[in-house]
Amino acid sequence: MTTITNIEDLRRLAQKRVPRMFYDYADSGSWTESTYRANESDFQKIKLRQRVAVNMEGRSTASKMVGVDVAMPVAIAPTGLTGMQHADGEILAARAAEKFGIPFTLSTMSICSIEDIATHTKAPFWFQLYVMKDRAFIERLIDRAKAAKCGALVLTLDLQILGQRHKDLKNGLSAPPKLTIANLINLASKPRWCLGMAGTKRRQFGNIVGHVSGVENMGSLSEWTAKQFDPALNWGDVEWIKKRWGGKLILKGIQDVEDAKLAVASGADALIVSNHGGRQLDGAESSINSLPGIVAEVGSKIEVHMDGGVRSGQDVLKAVALGAKGCYIGRAFLYGLGAMGEAGVTKTLEIIHKELDLTMAFCGHTKMSTVDRSILLPGTFPTAPAVTAG
Ligand code: GLV
Repeated sequence: MTTITNIEDLRRLAQKRVPRMFYDYADSGSWTESTYRANESDFQKIKLRQRVAVNMEGRSTASKMVGVDVAMPVAIAPTGLTGMQHADGEILAARAAEKFGIPFTLSTMSICSIEDIATHTKAPFWFQLYVMKDRAFIERLIDRAKAAKCGALVLTLDLQILGQRHKDLKNGLSAPPKLTIANLINLASKPRWCLGMAGTKRRQFGNIVGHVSGVENMGSLSEWTAKQFDPALNWGDVEWIKKRWGGKLILKGIQDVEDAKLAVASGADALIVSNHGGRQLDGAESSINSLPGIVAEVGSKIEVHMDGGVRSGQDVLKAVALGAKGCYIGRAFLYGLGAMGEAGVTKTLEIIHKELDLTMAFCGHTKMSTVDRSILLPGTFPTAPAVTAG
């Protein structure tokens, strides 16, 4: 096996080890995947300014996200079906994040449950909430997150309806996978994955199955989502959820300055500039390009985070330079998990941290708090639009 030195190495290994339906679920966007690709390629367009003969001793990437001390300004993003990339995936990733000193965010659509993560970790993790039509279930979920002492609630606002992902439909994505001939043939080439799954009882949506009456078998994910997720979600619900939760609230899925202003008005602690990893509205702006306009408009009133396309520590530094107080990694950690379980997630975090630390130093800084857009080459980075549309 080649020595793993970057996230692309982990991606390639994950592609070999994870059944196609779940690898495809992670490594895809909606429709033409143009936004999915732009999230990464727009980071590449931004160029850095190297400085020399600056004292680089005593460096630290330590920061704070919503008041929480973090070893670097990175959190693990909430990703659905993580426990299908590797058996007990959410527990393994939460442990790796805890040891590294960054927040882990558990998705509503996880395989391991809120209670599983609480049992297997000590540091408070964050919980991501999807709003479904069954509000009594949502109340119970919020209460379960409170009982598990989750440190923040990450409320996703951009998935009232599901962007069409061709690969998931063609693969008939479900958890656990249906034992069709095509799936059985594919599973036969993934012995490690099968062995792991045979050794765990966690193969269904742990936060949902057994907690909603009548939900034993969710069928295909796209059908279930279309039936259960609430298309009527609105800012009044945000107010209600904020009150019921009572703790730190982070709003995920903001792309537009007008929505960012509404996020400020809601009293949330932070917002995440996000296009859901290019999985919802294909054709939307990349996250890194959306970031400066939102920071310019609301950055002094609310903490601004971002996700989408972050595959290296250099990407993290660029986002911080453009005003993000933190980034979330989704696919980058899923590749590590699919490749090598907990050790793979640790590897992801080590790779990103090292890239972040060295790039920060090359740019002439020794701590995150002094990094700003002066490390970026003028003309290569996105800026806030001069006039924002109403
Ligand atoms: C849900 O979080 C998804 O993007 O599939």
